[in-house]
Amino acid sequence: VADRVCPYWKGFWLTSPLRRIIHRPEWILAPYVERGSTVLEVGPAMGFFTLPLARMVGPTGRVVCVDVEERMLRTLAKRARRAGLAERIVCRTCPPDSLGVDDLAGQVDFALVFYVVHEVPDAGRLFAELAHALSPDAACLVAEPKGRVKGRDFAASLDAAQRSGFTVTGAPKIPWSHTALLQKNRGGPPLGA
Ligand SMILES: C[S@@+](CC[C@H](N)C(=O)[O-])C[C@H]1O[C@@H](n2cnc3c(N)ncnc32)[C@H](O)[C@@H]1O
Repeated sequence: VADRVCPYWKGFWLTSPLRRIIHRPEWILAPYVERGSTVLEVGPAMGFFTLPLARMVGPTGRVVCVDVEERMLRTLAKRARRAGLAERIVCRTCPPDSLGVDDLAGQVDFALVFYVVHEVPDAGRLFAELAHALSPDAACLVAEPKGRVKGRDFAASLDAAQRSGFTVTGAPKIPWSHTALLQKNRGGPPLGA
């Protein structure tokens, strides 16, 4: 696993209840998630957003979590069991260069990619795989930490997203974060991409 990937110990820090003071998952996610939704979460770590997502999708929805770090996912699965939410959460380990979500083609109603893109070696491929997994009207929320990611690097990630078949339709306000709301282009990536 590459050096830039978030270390395991940081997963505890990211899941701290204190983080809810600045990142309240229910407020951040409410516009995009409905009961019964299928949500794809890339890089959930120990599931700071995953458990609230699982509550929001309800018993008929599901949250598919894809992460390179198996240990993070094991802890996430333990937290999900304790919260009685394990049935709604699917954890999958992936290699760094692919999410391996071909089987979800067109089925995902919303994707969350929170503080992950700067750790991924090929953002273009990440966004192409996301575009393939999302249903035609689905949105993808991307956030990157302002302290770690420069504005021009975030802009480069959004360029990669646009080349992979997304349009940037908004930038919701989230403290400490660069953000973009992406909508899948109908008809896939532009010609020549
Ligand atoms: C900084 S943590 C963010 C965790 C979570 N999204 C949050 O905001 O609390 C980044 C996560 O992305 C995962 N990750 C890094 N590279 C990845 C890749 N290529 N594919 C999938 N997940 C990756 C890491 O293992 C880690 O769990």
